[in-house]
Amino acid sequence: MDNFSSSNRAQIQLKVLISSRTQSDLDLIETLIGEFDEQPRIMKRFVSNGHIDPLYDLDEMPDLLILNLSKHWQGELDELLNHSAANRPPVLVVGDQHNPEIMRKAMQAGARDFLNFPINQVELHKTLKQISREKQQAQLIDSGHLTAVINAKGGSGASMLACNLAYLMQTNSNQHTILMDLDMQFGSLAEYLNLKPENGIADALKVVDELDETALTAYLVKHKSGLQVLGSTTNTIRMPNQTPEQQINRLLKMVLKNCNQLVVDLPRMIDRTAIAVLQNASRIVVVVQQDLINVRDAIHMMHILRNELAILDDQIIVAVNRFDKKAAVSVKDIEESLKVKHLVTIPNDYRTSIESLNKGEPISVVAKRSALSRSLNQLQADLIRPDNEPVHRGALTNLFSRLTGG
Ligand SMILES: Nc1ncnc2c1ncn2[C@@H]1O[C@H](COP(=O)(O)OP(=O)(O)O)[C@@H](O)[C@H]1O
Ligand SMILES: [Mg+2]
Repeated sequence: MDNFSSSNRAQIQLKVLISSRTQSDLDLIETLIGEFDEQPRIMKRFVSNGHIDPLYDLDEMPDLLILNLSKHWQGELDELLNHSAANRPPVLVVGDQHNPEIMRKAMQAGARDFLNFPINQVELHKTLKQISREKQQAQLIDSGHLTAVINAKGGSGASMLACNLAYLMQTNSNQHTILMDLDMQFGSLAEYLNLKPENGIADALKVVDELDETALTAYLVKHKSGLQVLGSTTNTIRMPNQTPEQQINRLLKMVLKNCNQLVVDLPRMIDRTAIAVLQNASRIVVVVQQDLINVRDAIHMMHILRNELAILDDQIIVAVNRFDKKAAVSVKDIEESLKVKHLVTIPNDYRTSIESLNKGEPISVVAKRSALSRSLNQLQADLIRPDNEPVHRGALTNLFSRLTGG
C-alpha cells in the first residue's frame, strides 16, 4: 500500500535535527539522511562544552531529533526529559542498544526508535518515512474537514452514523455538507434519507477529467435539509481497484472544495478508493458493536489504519454502537484491545432506528429528544469543532504507546 500513500499525499518537507558530540558521526548521519528520497531539511547541532540540551534555544522545532548519545548519555537524556512531552519532537536515539539503563531512560525521554553504530540505513529511512507520514496526517487534522465512517463488521451501524452525522452537520451546525456514499451494497441512503441518486460516484469518476463545479452538481442529489449526497448507484458496478487513484483524488478534491464538511460512508473492503478517502480524512469513525467478532475485526481494521496507512490515534474515534452496559464485552474491553484513544458510545434504540428507516427520516426528526439523537449530535459537534480539539470524553485513557509495543 506504500505507493498509494505517497501519491495520495502532498509532500511536506521534513525537518530533521541531528545532535552529536562527535563531528564525524554528525557528518555520517547527515550523509545517510541525505540519501532519503524525500529530501529532508537537515539541521545539525555539534555539542561541545556548552549546552548539552539538544533542544536548547532552537529557532524552530524539528519533526525528528536524532540524538547521538555520548558517554554523557545520562545528562543528555535528562535534558530531554526536562522538556514536557508536548515540547519535544519524536526522538531517534543512536546509542548502545544493549545497555538496559540507556534503553530505559531513552524510553522515558520519549525515544521512538533506537539505532546502533554502524547505523542501518534502511532502518533509519524507515523511521524517516514513518515520521513524514505522521506529519502529513497531523496536518490533515488541522486543515481537514473530511470525516470517514467505517465499520469493523457489516451491520454495525456505519451507514446510520454517516447519514445522521452528515445531516446534523448540515442542520444543527449550519455546515455546507456533502455525504458521499461508498457503501453501495445495501442502498442504505434511500432508506435513511429517502433519496435515490441517479448518477453516482462511479459515473462521476468516469468523466472526472472533464468535471468542474457546475458539472459536479449533476451528480449530487439534494436532501430537503440542504444536505447534498454523492451516492452510489447499483446500475454502475465499480470493481474494486478499478479506478486509478489520481482520478479518485481529483474527485475528492473537487468535492471537498464544494463543501465545508464531507462525510464518507465507507464499505468494509479497503480498496483503492477507500484508501484515498482514508488518507485524506481528518477523522475516521470506526463503528463497532460489543461482540467478539466485531472486536476481532476491529483490531484488524485498527492495525491497517495505524500500520499500513499511518493514521494517527488522534484521528481515530471508535464509536461503540448499540451500547449496552450489561453486554459481555465491555467498553473497557474494547478500549484495551483496540488501544483506542478516543471512544464514544451510541445508545441502542431499536424503535427509533426502525422508525427512521421506515419513514426515510433522520433520527433527530423522528425522535429529537432521544438519547440516540443527543449522542449523534454530540459526536457531530465534536467532529466539526473549530478548535479541533481531539474528542475526549468519559473514562478514557491513552492506552496506546508505541514504546510498550502497542
Ligand atoms: N444505535 C442503534 N440502535 C438500534 N439499531 C441500530 C442502531 N444503529 C444501527 N441500527 C440498525 O442496525 C442496522 C444496520 O445498520 P447500518 O447503518 O446499515 O450498518 P452498516 O452500515 O455498518 O452495515 C440497521 O437496521 C440500523 O437501523
Ligand atoms: Mg452500511
